[in-house]
Amino acid sequence: MKFLFLGICLSIALLGDNVFAQKHKPSPLGGYQPIDVDNENIKKLAQFSLDSITQQTMSKRSLGLIRVVSAKSQVVAGINYKIDLIVCEKDSTKKNKDIVMDHKNCRSCDITIWEQSWLNNKNVTKVACTKPSELESFSNVAATKRKRDIHEDTMVGSKINLDLNDNKVKDIVDYALSSVDQQEGSGVSHILSKIINASKQIVAGILYNIELEICENSTSQVDGKKCRICNVNVWEQTWLNTKNTSKINCNSPYRINVVESNLNKLNKQNYDAEERFELKKDFENFINTHSKIYSSLEEKNRRFRIYAANMKKIKLLQNHEQGTAIYGATQFADLTKNEFQEKYLGLNPSSAKNKILPMAEIPHDIAIPTEFDWRDHSVVTPVKNQGSCGSCWAFSAIANIEGQNALKSGKLLSLSEQELIDCDAMDNGCGGGLMTQAFEAIENLGGLETESAYPYEGHEDRKGCQLNKSKLKVSISKAVNVSTDEGDIAKFLVAHGPLSVGVNANAMQFYMGGVSHPIHALCSPKSLDHGVAIIGYGIHKYPYLNATLPFWTIKNSWGDKWGMQGYYLLYRGDGSCGVNQMVSSAIIE
Ligand SMILES: *[C@@H]1O[C@H](CO)[C@@H](O)[C@H](O)[C@H]1NC(C)=O
Ligand SMILES: *[C@@H]1O[C@H](CO)[C@@H](O)[C@H](O)[C@H]1NC(C)=O
Ligand SMILES: *[C@@H]1O[C@H](CO)[C@@H](O)[C@H](O)[C@H]1NC(C)=O
Ligand SMILES: *[C@@H]1O[C@H](CO)[C@@H](O)[C@H](O)[C@H]1NC(C)=O
Ligand SMILES: *[C@@H]1O[C@H](CO)[C@@H](O)[C@H](O)[C@H]1NC(C)=O
Ligand SMILES: *[C@@H]1O[C@H](CO)[C@@H](O)[C@H](O)[C@H]1NC(C)=O
Ligand SMILES: *[C@@H]1O[C@H](CO)[C@@H](O)[C@H](O)[C@H]1NC(C)=O
Repeated sequence: MKFLFLGICLSIALLGDNVFAQKHKPSPLGGYQPIDVDNENIKKLAQFSLDSITQQTMSKRSLGLIRVVSAKSQVVAGINYKIDLIVCEKDSTKKNKDIVMDHKNCRSCDITIWEQSWLNNKNVTKVACTKPSELESFSNVAATKRKRDIHEDTMVGSKINLDLNDNKVKDIVDYALSSVDQQEGSGVSHILSKIINASKQIVAGILYNIELEICENSTSQVDGKKCRICNVNVWEQTWLNTKNTSKINCNSPYRINVVESNLNKLNKQNYDAEERFELKKDFENFINTHSKIYSSLEEKNRRFRIYAANMKKIKLLQNHEQGTAIYGATQFADLTKNEFQEKYLGLNPSSAKNKILPMAEIPHDIAIPTEFDWRDHSVVTPVKNQGSCGSCWAFSAIANIEGQNALKSGKLLSLSEQELIDCDAMDNGCGGGLMTQAFEAIENLGGLETESAYPYEGHEDRKGCQLNKSKLKVSISKAVNVSTDEGDIAKFLVAHGPLSVGVNANAMQFYMGGVSHPIHALCSPKSLDHGVAIIGYGIHKYPYLNATLPFWTIKNSWGDKWGMQGYYLLYRGDGSCGVNQMVSSAIIE
């Protein structure tokens, strides 16, 4: 659910309330935050990366994950995950047993995965592995605390028993049955009598082992049905959307009197309520979509209960919204609020030095319209895309300066974010930054080149700062702290152009349109983690609900396929998601 989502453009991220209130030390936006290595999603992503690692290292045998050593994430257009893990080749000589690892052929790998959940897209963007060596040689990484896990983690790849009533098991059984029919090719179809045993192993994907009793689908009941017990392996790689039956072993047929009512038992389970059934189905989809792997049935059941509770919260939230924002089950839908806060939001305050900006002069006596949009005045460039780089702060600052410049000079120029990534030493490039610092850096640099003169690359591995002073097109005189009063912010916006703002991105990750108005508890105004630009405001009227929704129109930098053609409508008037907490603007005199 989107409100549980790891928001995040901030590295040192989300300040505790006290820190924010007392020290006024905002964290850079766009940096990396640590994640617990035991996090299910991280394990899933680590599994997801195995194929890429196999390719990249040209390993001849497939690889198994031994352990995630460390993990962190960063908000870009989506989320970047940096995961440090240890993999070993699988020992294929021991075929009939549980898959075991060849501990002499292991590597330590650093991978980066870029996930854009709203496009249902994740890509391994970087793989760097050591040469293969014995697992022992990585024991320094494993060190004291986690050493014990080496033994336990070699159990990765061992069998996990599954609940026979599990919808996923039914799914695999259906597939197994059709495989049996296909392999026999006798034209006789089979029906399921009972599932005897089901287990799964985590490989590159999931290997299901199902033991089942199947019977020929004949109508003659004279001397019972012809049945057999079969052992079937189905290998599923959800991210490739493939299932393959890799083994079918059936013993010789025997005749039994099958209780007819048993045959279709699986399709006729009585669930106490239709609703619960639907919820289970959704949960299975959720598990599939996000390749969730739970360590035991108990754990799975527990996660289902949390998921169910969270679904209620989503409903509650949507009722409260009285708007059109759509909320859905994100990959965090199986975490409690506490778990989420612990694992994703608890962080160390920034050491970034805080520049106190002079306060803006608010034009108090101007009358402002009920709706306003700077896009109607040719001062807003098309929506840009920060890609997998934590440069939201640069896009936010630039959107503001582009507007300032257009209003001053009458010419709308698209300006260079890359210049800031490469040349702004106060900020941290793709590792995050602050708009207020970017303004100061631009003053020091002397100005900005255009987007075309200094084009966006989305990474910082070019040869340092490429600034050419003779190409500077726009310079700024100073920057101001606008206000935390949303009425004053609107006045300043109308008088001076688009503004740089920090927000909590929790509600944005799965935003698909409409006016977003999450309750404060789910989108804390104190946890700013993303930099964007307010370019206008308006009011949506919902006569049916007898409600009006004032909103800010916010330009994001995740491309125009995200949100409403790249824009986000966020409720205006109650400091939703902290939109009024870090509002600033450059001034061109
Ligand atoms: C990620 O991979 C998918 C499938 O391989 C591809 O279609 C998509 O364009 C890639 N996305 C990015 C941003 O590279
Ligand atoms: C199912 O398989 C597990 C592990 O292979 C085994 O411990 C268990 O006894 C089996 N159950 C049945 C009913 O065969
Ligand atoms: C079994 O056979 C009956 C009658 O031929 C048919 O209606 C039914 O669909 C078959 N069931 C399966 C699972 O093939
Ligand atoms: C799995 O099956 C699909 C289609 O049946 C096939 O294209 C693919 O190559 C198979 N994959 C493996 C790993 O055998
Ligand atoms: C802007 O002003 C507000 C309210 O006075 C203050 O909380 C905030 O820290 C200031 N921000 C900066 C960057 O000076
Ligand atoms: C800087 O730009 C000017 C023209 O705008 C060009 O003549 C000059 O060669 C450039 N300098 C460098 C170092 O690229
Ligand atoms: C709509 O809201 C207004 C103001 O809150 C109230 O006066 C009015 O009675 C409401 N109308 C309906 C149909 O509920």
